[in-house]
Amino acid sequence: MDNIRIVGGKPLQGTVKISGAKNAALPILCAALLADGEHVFRNVPALRDIETTCALLEHLGVRCEVTPPIVKLHTRPSDVREAPYELVKQMRASVLVLGPLVAKYGEARVSLPGGCAIGARPIDQHLKGLELMGANILLEHGYVHASVPSGRLRGAEIVLDIPTVTGTENLMCAATLARGRTTLVNAAREPEVEELARVLNKMGANVTGAGTDVIVVEGVEGLQPVDHAIMPDRIEAGTYMVAAAATAGNVLCDGVSLDHLEALAAKLRKAGVILEREANGVRVIGRERYQAVDVTTAPHPGFPTDMQAQFMVLMCRASGRSVITETIFENRFMHVSELNRMGARIDVHGRMAAVNGVDSLQGAEVMATDLRASASLVIAGLFAEGTTDVLRVYHIDRGYEHIEAKFAGLGANIQRVRGHG
Ligand code: EPU
Repeated sequence: MDNIRIVGGKPLQGTVKISGAKNAALPILCAALLADGEHVFRNVPALRDIETTCALLEHLGVRCEVTPPIVKLHTRPSDVREAPYELVKQMRASVLVLGPLVAKYGEARVSLPGGCAIGARPIDQHLKGLELMGANILLEHGYVHASVPSGRLRGAEIVLDIPTVTGTENLMCAATLARGRTTLVNAAREPEVEELARVLNKMGANVTGAGTDVIVVEGVEGLQPVDHAIMPDRIEAGTYMVAAAATAGNVLCDGVSLDHLEALAAKLRKAGVILEREANGVRVIGRERYQAVDVTTAPHPGFPTDMQAQFMVLMCRASGRSVITETIFENRFMHVSELNRMGARIDVHGRMAAVNGVDSLQGAEVMATDLRASASLVIAGLFAEGTTDVLRVYHIDRGYEHIEAKFAGLGANIQRVRGHG
């Protein structure tokens, strides 16, 4: 396993190009199951989760040509309607094939994803929605077996208990080919949900309201393949923005719009970071010390849980104490003990972490068990004194394209060390 080695202390300077959004690309690639023919997706990031998705689609009979940033998918009718444990255990977002498969074939068998490092992460809302649309749901041998006796889902009014992101995406896909109208109430409002709706509509679906908490889908008889460029990754952009701020740097994040990052931008500005809109992106100008700012994660448009770990590292550079509250996932503070090993002073009380600003962090060997936590440790290493080795970087490779090359391009002393960990 590779490590990332960082010698901290250099302010980041220059321009970083933001890649296509992982969490938009995953549901969109799965949605390609809905229409036979050749789909072309552009601006797809070169990530392990994309490879896993393509392996799953291949298993389901789709021919995949992956030459990042272009992915061509040739969808054709297939007898395989199963997402096996082998693939789902590598990536829980594999559950995103459930909606498209049931919509297209009236049947699917998908391994239950189970919990992961950040929480239990059930999919009961996905299943409740499919049941309301006429699917019979059977849980057997660790698999969900969904089948529609009539062969075609029917529209329904579905009130979600929680605005789940992939749940909304699964049900939106399922509804595109259902008979009649589906209304999703308390839907997730994330920009990636809107992006999926855009793609479905380009394929011939009739989806309105995406981006609000009520989405209406009028079912259609069939869909066509699509050619689409994936939107930029707001979480990758946010990660580089925080890294620029944490190193007292000056960085242009190229290709991203602040419109998708309002909650983060508001907190960064309150802390004292200067953010400037430029024609093609956002410029971040950092400083040595920040104001302590409290943050509570929430569904979009609230502060994203996927930026919580990175923001916490910035708060290590604040004067005073900030309180960070995680409301989305029950176990998303795994970076805290690693940051404390680097000299941070963070106390966790249940879902709250109190971050007491310190003068500096010290480099250390660290590791984390999820993607965003690992990214936060890289940021910590960038401004820590001395050398930091971030172990188990396969978590980072799931979601950050060429992270060490991008940081090196901004002047960081960072390299990948092959074969350790
Ligand atoms: N939940 C339920 N029942 C459900 C579905 C969700 O109780 O049926 C709970 C979850 O356990 C969690 C909360 O609802 O406590 C929100 O989960 P959600 O379903 O919205 O998360 P997700 O769709 O599994 C996506 C992203 C995550 C991101 C979350 C929250 C993708 C592929 N994944 O996950 O991204 O953290 O939304 O914004 O879109 C990441 O990229 O690092 C990542 C983890």
